[in-house]
Amino acid sequence: MERVEWLRAEIRRHNRLYHVEDSPEVSDAEYDALYRELEDLEREHPDLATEDSPTQRVGAEPLEEFEQVRHAIPMLSLANARKVEELREWDARVRRLLGEDEEPGYVRYVTELKIDGLAVSLRYEAGRLVQGATRGNGTVGEDVTQNLRTVRSIPERLDDGPPEVLEARGEVYIPLGGFEEFNRRVESEGKKPFANPRNLAAGSIRQLDPHITAGRPLTVFLYGVGEGGEAYESHSAALAGLKEYGLRANPHRLHDDIESVIQECERWAAERESLDYQVDGVVVKVDSREQQRTLGSVQKSPRWAIAYKFEPLAGRTRLEDVIVNVGRTGAITPQAVLSPVNVGGVTISKATLHNEDYVKDKGILVGDEVVVERAGDVIPQVVRPIPEARDGSEYAFEMPTHCPVCGVEVSRPEGEAITRCVNARCPAQAVERIIHFSTKSAMDVEGLGEKLATRLFDLGLVDDVADLYELRPDQLTPLEGFAEKSAENLVNAIAASKEQPFSRVLYALGIQHVGLVTAGLISARFSGQDLLEGVSAESLAEIDGVGGVLAGSVVGYFELEENRRLVRRLMERGLDFGREEPEAAEGPLVGKRVVVTGSLSRPRSHFVERIESAGGTFTSSVSKNTDYVLAGEDAGSKLAKAEELGVTVLDEAGFAELFPG
Ligand code: IVH
Repeated sequence: MERVEWLRAEIRRHNRLYHVEDSPEVSDAEYDALYRELEDLEREHPDLATEDSPTQRVGAEPLEEFEQVRHAIPMLSLANARKVEELREWDARVRRLLGEDEEPGYVRYVTELKIDGLAVSLRYEAGRLVQGATRGNGTVGEDVTQNLRTVRSIPERLDDGPPEVLEARGEVYIPLGGFEEFNRRVESEGKKPFANPRNLAAGSIRQLDPHITAGRPLTVFLYGVGEGGEAYESHSAALAGLKEYGLRANPHRLHDDIESVIQECERWAAERESLDYQVDGVVVKVDSREQQRTLGSVQKSPRWAIAYKFEPLAGRTRLEDVIVNVGRTGAITPQAVLSPVNVGGVTISKATLHNEDYVKDKGILVGDEVVVERAGDVIPQVVRPIPEARDGSEYAFEMPTHCPVCGVEVSRPEGEAITRCVNARCPAQAVERIIHFSTKSAMDVEGLGEKLATRLFDLGLVDDVADLYELRPDQLTPLEGFAEKSAENLVNAIAASKEQPFSRVLYALGIQHVGLVTAGLISARFSGQDLLEGVSAESLAEIDGVGGVLAGSVVGYFELEENRRLVRRLMERGLDFGREEPEAAEGPLVGKRVVVTGSLSRPRSHFVERIESAGGTFTSSVSKNTDYVLAGEDAGSKLAKAEELGVTVLDEAGFAELFPG
């Protein structure tokens, strides 16, 4: 169908504009509309679905293990220079080996940033991505194709005539902004944050389940060509080619002599922190391919390239004390108080210690000499102690048993890394709760954002979310920026939020781990009154989709008198705490979990659609809770597991007979 092809081409073009060229032409909403239209068409016409459709980025099944990939041309590493003098020596050697030509410009150099991520190779055949691999030991890496396919800046198809085989090489990395946001989410779920973007990138690419990789903010910069490289007469021409095909080529500059290279290295050493990603140096490469061939390699590094390494952003200092901070979500985190130390031009006197286990696992004692690191905008962290420097006066840090702000006993649920203050009235958290309560996905109070919530709290007009429903326009009109009309609007918007159903109210309370979906599941089974009267963790965990941790968190919330009082006040003010009638699901597969495996006559999405429209749930792994496994040809481990567990296995004909689509 022409429309499908047009949509695919258009979506690919917008992907390139957004992810590769940083110059989007359409809004997110317009892009989403195109994407949804394509998804709908592919669902309606499964025969038109193709593996390389832009909708198929997150489709593959988890692997048992990675296959090995032998790199036809080894992926080399780089020799290092730590001082500019070493760059001059390298330049002299290069020119001597090339024939002592003193003419400026005889050897042209390219400089690029050295990205701190994970080296990968992307193999395109006839312009299609056929394989993605890690560098591994340089000769043999791992086949991570299905994970790399989930990275949005890696196109499935190339534009504008690349060589028949093109192996683009580069670095997969996670931008600092994405890293911080990801870690915030991890921490809010009570899990251990990642130490740095590089570890997160490397860990994400080596996931057996591509769905996990797809949720990580990965991107790529390509800095070279392996197979297919003969097509270019210089490195800069290869980079220009990559860019032309729609690949995200590492930015570069050309230089006629080593002094210009040195200037560039020094400039980046000073400006590295202006970037949204981590770099650990500048790579200098001889531009001409012919000269590269003449120079050749020694051991595992080419003679035609060198990495000028920056000073690490690390320093040594004394850990004077450990204090604890109460975050707005109640997370109590230990913070290092340091003797001020200069790290890469910035004075550091505070650093994060993440959580209690981090301090214990690293063996950090108060009074220790410690190594601190910082990287871009990432908050400085204490990475390790130096035990040799101890004099015996050091002592272990103890997490407080009570919240330092409100004095209520803290809680650290089993299996979680984060200690929390669970008191809903703790002032440290109160504002955050008001903000969360009012957001669009919760009670959707128009006009009540972070700024206003903080102001109302600071002025003592609103101490908690129940107070919102007591606000009067005449309390607001004296405030700067409020007129009679706007004060009334806000009060009306707050009153209108009473119409929100119980699932929204439950979510708006901001109970740890309770998202919109899980709030919906709980509110379909229990009312607010039930929860106040005491629902056990076991009966909550019986709800499909509600795990033990979540159940424990809900029970813990409703046990605390402060929270119970708040809930009762919200009930009195007329908010909806009534159990919600679930939408009646229909179909022969209601309540059934189905796994699909092996190769089938139609794309997987076709069967998922049929399962869902029959009221069933499609799941990706086989367990004792699985009701059916639909197995096609060559079904592997999932079929074996189903047989082992005695789960009913259906072939396509059997499936069609039982659940006609
Ligand atoms: S060129 C033959 N360019 O640094 C040259 N490498 O020790 C091979 N790296 O793991 C590499 N940014 O992944 C080159 N702009 C860049 C780079 C870069 C990061 C990594 C590379 C490899 C290591 C080399």
